[in-house]
Amino acid sequence: MTQIRPLIAGNWKMNGLTASLAEASTLAQALAAQPASARVALCPPATLITQMSRLLDESAILVGGQDCHAEPKGAFTGDISAEMLADAGATMVILGHSERRALCGESDDTVRAKALAALRGALEPIVCIGETLTDRESGRTLEVVSAQVRGSLPDALAGVAFAVAYEPVWAIGTGLTPTLEQIEEVHVAIRGLLVERFGTTGEGTPILYGGSVNAKNAADILKVAEVGGALVGGASLKCDDYIQIVRAA
Ligand code: PGA
Repeated sequence: MTQIRPLIAGNWKMNGLTASLAEASTLAQALAAQPASARVALCPPATLITQMSRLLDESAILVGGQDCHAEPKGAFTGDISAEMLADAGATMVILGHSERRALCGESDDTVRAKALAALRGALEPIVCIGETLTDRESGRTLEVVSAQVRGSLPDALAGVAFAVAYEPVWAIGTGLTPTLEQIEEVHVAIRGLLVERFGTTGEGTPILYGGSVNAKNAADILKVAEVGGALVGGASLKCDDYIQIVRAA
């Protein structure tokens, strides 16, 4: 079995001003004193990427963006390209988060184009997928998630580093989580699809769980078969909580 180094990624969403960088410094100090076994990332709002990358330059913490446009540049007011994120110091990018799928109308095709852009910009994509409560209640979870895996991941990911984040939409920011059995069922299905599609790359791709991960439930979730890390929203904003999740991996 391929040994996968877990990835714990913090998604700050639209939270964080310059003062919040203190949390990143505290995290870096804690990890310098006691290194983590997992890879650790923070994805702040775009306005903080340059400052955070400089601050964490000597640390083991990776910095990522939360989205990128599919094009490298052009007349797209308000958007940011993968190249711009990399130029600001990011080495990874979250793509297809359910909030962007729901609020900005991103489809699997959009997310696939963005994943190609991430590769073009030398960023490691973290591609998010996950079912809604209606999907789950109508027994369509595996069908929906499988379609998202097929549609959101470009063939070009074969041979490169990327991650998939399984985030049930109904678990994000709600304090609700699936049972460990439900998490395992979906992660095992995703692994099967990744291996079928990408061969050995698919064997080694971390599959993160996301949705109400916190300091209390992280250890149990991270032990589930095929869970290769976590995408953490609210609990990544404060170093005290986030470090406990990082240490649980
Ligand atoms: P949450 O968010 O941990 O606050 O539920 C997770 C996410 O949206 O990535």
